[in-house]
Amino acid sequence: MVNLIGSRALLERFSQFIDPEVEEIFEIGQYLIKAGGKALRPTLLLMTCESFGYDPSFALQLAAGIEFIHLASLLHDDVVDGATLRRGIKSANLVFGNEACVLAGDYLYAKALELYANFGNLEAIRILSRAVMDMSQGQLLELRSLGKVLNKEEYFRIIDLKTGALFASSLQIGALISGQEGHSKLYKAGVYLGRAFQIVDDVLDYEGDESKLGKRVGSDLREGKCTLPLICAEGALKDFTFPPDDPEALRLRVIELGGTKLAKEIAKEELSKAFNILLEFKELESLTKFLRGLIERES
Ligand code: FPP
Ligand code: MG
Repeated sequence: MVNLIGSRALLERFSQFIDPEVEEIFEIGQYLIKAGGKALRPTLLLMTCESFGYDPSFALQLAAGIEFIHLASLLHDDVVDGATLRRGIKSANLVFGNEACVLAGDYLYAKALELYANFGNLEAIRILSRAVMDMSQGQLLELRSLGKVLNKEEYFRIIDLKTGALFASSLQIGALISGQEGHSKLYKAGVYLGRAFQIVDDVLDYEGDESKLGKRVGSDLREGKCTLPLICAEGALKDFTFPPDDPEALRLRVIELGGTKLAKEIAKEELSKAFNILLEFKELESLTKFLRGLIERES
């Protein structure tokens, strides 16, 4: 099984698809790519193809399209969040400005659709378009929830849309183009997988190591964003105002009260739900093993 996670060669092959007339668009795309992402979503798509016996080299433009949607969403997200650090370097919004980043994101989004149109599978285009609609809606729900304490269901609704949808599409598209009848079943597995990843990301925002993480720790509470660690600790919190006057004190308190520990347990449960579906497909055994190893390393 090809392990392409973080593969520079793969990311460099994706860069070849970015061919704008305007140099600055290329620079912004390259800026994020060169900072070195894990290319997790396209790797999922390619590994799913390979597992089902479809040559992954024929799906390269679809994998690139998935990565471009992810990059576009990060460019837009960093503008929305007013981020300062991404992948260990200044976030693109700081270097190129908000306006240019929104436009570069638009370019990458449209480029992804062009790559899918060239491949010519209408159902794959539908799945990808739906993912972007979901992501935008999740992001808007999150924006409107800033400063509010959410319950677990409200939190899951947001992360299933903003993160789960693209993970889900990566798996489903990989299975679809490999001719798998049961491709829509994999969508649900991807949603659970995306949930687990977003929960781990949200836990790391509480207790990660900034130098390893490549982004600021404690940003969620500073932005007034309620994520699972806070939801898990909320019952035990006394004299608690939200958004917090002192985000750093609240961050430490949530960790102390076991909010991050409980959130990690919930991430594991969501992961098991994903694996239960994946393991219905005998062909996906090694993909499941690979994902298990990856999550253990990440969390
Ligand atoms: C990161 O969340 C953001 C997302 C997972 C989704 C962002 C989606 C959009 C901006 C809408 C889709 C738009 C396009 C053009 C495809 P986070 O802020 O929790 O993660 P972070 O800590 O990495 O910033
Ligand atoms: Mg963000």
